[in-house]
This record gives sequence, structure tokens and C-alpha cells, in this order.
Amino acid sequence: MTEIPPADQGVPTTGDAGGVDGRLPTQGGDEADGRDHEAAYDVITTPVLVIGAGAAGARVAIELAESGLEPLVVGKRDYGDAHTTWAAGGINAALGSLDPEDNWPIHAADTLNEGHHLNDPEAVELTAKHMPDRIRELDEWGMSFARTDDGKINQRYFGAQSYRRTCFVGDRTGEVMLETLIDRAQALEIPYRENVMITRLLSDGTRVDGAVGFDMETGDGLLFRTDHVVLAAGGFSAAYRRHSSRDDENNGDAQALALEAGARLLDTEFVQFHPTGMVGERYGDEWDGRLVTEAVRGEGGRLYNAAGERFMERYSPDQMELDARDVVARAIAEEVREGRGTEHGGVYLDISHRDPEYIHERLPTMVDRFEGLGVDITAEPMEIGPTAHYTMGGVDIDFRTGETGVEGLYAVGEAVAGVHGANRLGGNSLAETVAIGKLVGDHVSEQVTAGDDAPTVTDGQRALAEREFRALADLAASDGNVAPRALLEDLGELLWNHAGILRDEEGLREGLERLAELRARTANLRVDGDRTSRSFEYAVDLSMSLIVAEVLLRTALERTESRGAHYRTDYPETDPAWRQNLIVTADESGLSLQRRGVAEPSEPVRAALEEGYELDYHHLE
Ligand code: FUM
Repeated sequence: MTEIPPADQGVPTTGDAGGVDGRLPTQGGDEADGRDHEAAYDVITTPVLVIGAGAAGARVAIELAESGLEPLVVGKRDYGDAHTTWAAGGINAALGSLDPEDNWPIHAADTLNEGHHLNDPEAVELTAKHMPDRIRELDEWGMSFARTDDGKINQRYFGAQSYRRTCFVGDRTGEVMLETLIDRAQALEIPYRENVMITRLLSDGTRVDGAVGFDMETGDGLLFRTDHVVLAAGGFSAAYRRHSSRDDENNGDAQALALEAGARLLDTEFVQFHPTGMVGERYGDEWDGRLVTEAVRGEGGRLYNAAGERFMERYSPDQMELDARDVVARAIAEEVREGRGTEHGGVYLDISHRDPEYIHERLPTMVDRFEGLGVDITAEPMEIGPTAHYTMGGVDIDFRTGETGVEGLYAVGEAVAGVHGANRLGGNSLAETVAIGKLVGDHVSEQVTAGDDAPTVTDGQRALAEREFRALADLAASDGNVAPRALLEDLGELLWNHAGILRDEEGLREGLERLAELRARTANLRVDGDRTSRSFEYAVDLSMSLIVAEVLLRTALERTESRGAHYRTDYPETDPAWRQNLIVTADESGLSLQRRGVAEPSEPVRAALEEGYELDYHHLE
């Protein structure tokens, strides 16, 4: 353990978070205040630090290990318990098991169409092209995919996809995929450190040489010294009141850390509301927003309003319940808004017309979960409504390499933006994690040189880390009267009301004003317990979520059109001039927003786009 000197004895620091108006005010930080800062920390050196242990982080780590390196993976939760486990319904790859006409350019074309052509075409093509190999690889590694009678990997319909392309393991695809990746990682003896929260990257704004955080079980400070950091820490959908993830994941850590380290964020206004989240008023708070997998609709599930109308006939007569998520989520919100919802503010999702045996085989988790809540889904409907599920926006990277533009910092998975554009196809998130994860792992392994195995720690790096440890100690000592959890809830409400499914200028501006008020209340924070406490964890989550909330509100205000998941009631049309990505950077003067044009797809994908493939829902009837 290294003792932390008072700040005035330390070496002058090189970088600062700059103008990101997000971190909570603390009484200390740069000042030596004579208080006990739990003044000790561990230094850990590693050739590559992977932050986040979901599918993306695991796949990168596997590639690194297979190249002969020993990366260190850290995560906030236990190994195998990541947000990936909640992506239930499947993973896309144009295998053509049931529909031989399918191929990777059509997969890419579907992805671009549903991303409303804001996607990075290269990212889309890399994903679609590599997915058949990644599925075969997962199969070889023991993933127990559902099979057709003749032994092929089975594929189901998923929303807005022209063919049956979604490979699955019942309705626990993400869980089984993560187990498979972790088995592989363990066979390769990749070190993993659980319950680690990273709170800052060691950065001077142009290069990253480590990360700082703490052990959530002991409270000890941790300084990770490395020349290569891979951010795979997910998105920020948990900042919303209703969300499909658990409260302590997807808090925006990756985006906040990256922005503060000097990286660019992209398209943060695009938040996916999954149409079918459980309705808490009916099933209890702990289930509020949790996903009823799209596989229910992929297997023929129908949506009804409280009057018993199959309302998707009015919104999307061709694709019905299997239209893109943004379309179905808006339709449900509209039904509820017009008074045709249930008394709990949802609508009904019904699969009971299908054979009970089939439902048990295809949707066992749904059957069990609802049975535990007294609902037999083979005989009666579920009550559902939209829930914040995924953030299409994130860190701006080069998809061939994972590079962020800040030397030594790479990113992958839901942490980044580009594959999904303005609206993600279900089944493409798991696909991106392994397709791009392998490429990034491969590239990073080529960047590691002999000396990177045990990098030295400079005085400047220690000083930066120690300043962060003092700030964390001060945060833990906050003795005001506002609980971090209460502020997180208020933030969730704010985003739900001001940057939800339907947005407009007035609401977004008001959201920003409310955010400033909320931020002011953090001066009066009260943390109950030390750095191992839940209260402290919430305080750190809050600091991350506040940063992404501001970025989200600002970019949603800036984009004066409707496109995919970003629906502006004051600009209801898609504006061709807005076929541009919105880039966010931060410096001493605050956030800056810039536009960037989108590249064009390659010839085979253009040809697939011209063919006009689309899902024919009526195959399902
Ligand atoms: O509904 C689901 O099973 C979610 C899948 C996904 O988001 O890709």
C-alpha cells in the first residue's frame, strides 16, 4: 500500500476534468485539509486494463489472451453478472439456417434502414460480415444454441429484420453467451477483479496511462498503471426512471470517464425505449421496467390495448408488433396517452394463442418469471410498457481498432456509438460485442510492446491518482442532508419527463434548468457509510449519470428533427440535412457540439438497400 501525501506536497498535476460540469462538489480535492483521507492505495500494473466484464470486455480479453498477453479485467459486479445477461432473445447473424436468401449485406441493410442511416456503415458492415464466424466460434466454445430438426443453429424472427436471423438459447441468450465467454476466459486464465469501481482515467487529455478507482468491498484505493485501457463499461439507460437494467449498471461510467479523459462522444440523444418492459404498478417495484423479451413478439406475441384492440394495425399494418422498437414503443405510449392503456399505464402482450408446449420451449424464463408473479402466460396476457433499454450513443471510435483518438484509450460494446445509428435492431447488441470485440482485442494486442508488461508509475501519475483519492474521501465524508439515491431517482424522473420517448424544445430546456437545480443540490449530499457502502456507490453513480444527462439533454435539444428513437414533437419530420452525427467534446469552457457527415455504405450493401428487403410479418400468422 502506498500512503497519500497531502496535496501540497504532491507533484503538480497535468490534467483536469476540464469543463465537464458533472462531478459532485467536494470540500477537498486539490486542497490539503488535514483530514484523514483513508490515505493508502494499491498500485497494480498490467499491460492492458479492460474496464467492464460483460460480453464486449470478455471478448476483447479473450483475444488479448489468445495473442499471448495477460490483460486484467475489472468490473463492478461478480464475474458473469453483467448487463449482457439481460439481452435475452438472441443474437443476429446471417446464417440463413431457415431463410437461405439471407446474407450479410441484407443484415447490414436492415441495420442501416432501422438506424435511419445515421450508422457508421463500416461499423455495420464489419459486424454483419463477421457475425456468422463469431456464431460458429461461440458454438465451438460450447454455447448451447437452439437447433433445427436437421441440426442447424435455429433462428427466430426479431423486430424489423427481413429474415429469421436471430440465433437463440430459449430466452436466455445473453446469459448463456456470457457464461460461454467466461468459461473461455477462465480456460485462458485471464485475471478478473470483481467489485472494482473505476472513477477516473489517468489522462492529460491526449493520452491515457491508467485508471483510478476503489475496491467496493474494502474501500481501498486502486491505481491501475497501464498504457492500454479498454472501456467496455456499458451505456447509460439506467439514468432513466424506468429502465431494463439493474440500478447499479449502465450508469454512464464509460461515457463520463471517456469524456473527461478527452475522448469524443457521439449521438448521445439516441436512447432506445424497448416497447415491452414490465409495469411496476402491476408486478412490483423490483420488476419495474425489466424486459419482457422481444422474443415474445418474435414468436408471435400480440399487443392489445385496454379496449381489446390489436392497435398495431393502426400504426404499422405490415410489420405489426414486429416493427422497429421505436415505432412500437411510440405506439404504446400513444395508446396510453390517449386513455386506451391499462389502469397501471401499460398495454397487454399476449402469446396465449400459441401452443403451451411451444411457449415453454421457446420462452422458459418468461414462463417462470411470470408464474412466480401469479401469471400463466400460456393462458393470459402480460402487462407491459416502454422502458429505457439501450443507448445507441456513446464513445466515438474507429471500429477497426477501438481507438478513441486519445492515445492508449480504446472502447467497445454499448459504451460506443456507431453500429446502431438512430435506432438499434434487437439482437444486434450481442452481435456487436463479439464482432467488434474480437477486432479491438486483436488491434490492441498489436499495440502492446515488451515494456508495457510492468509499466513504471511516475510522480505525475501518482499525483493525479492521489487527487482523485482525496476527492473520493471527501465525497465519502459528505454530511449534508440529501441522499445520493434520492437524487438519482429525481434525475431518473427528470430524464423520463424531459428526454423520454417524446421530446420538444420547451421540455428539453426545462430539463436542463432542472438539471442545474439538481446539481446544485449535490452540494448538500449525505453519504451514509464509508467507501464500501451502497450510499457511496450511489454517490459515484450519480456523478457519472449527471455528466451523461447533461450531454443527452444538450444533444437532444440540438437535433431539430425526428429520427429513429429521437422523436421531437416540435420537429416531427426527418430532415435529410440532419443526416449527420453529433459529436460532443469537453474542455475548460464546457461542452462543445459539432456535426459530422455520415459515410456511404459499400456497393454490396447499397445493392441490398436498393432491393428494399423488409420483414413480412404475415409469415408469422
Ligand atoms: O428483447 C430482448 O430480448 C432484447 C434483446 C436486445 O436488446 O438485443
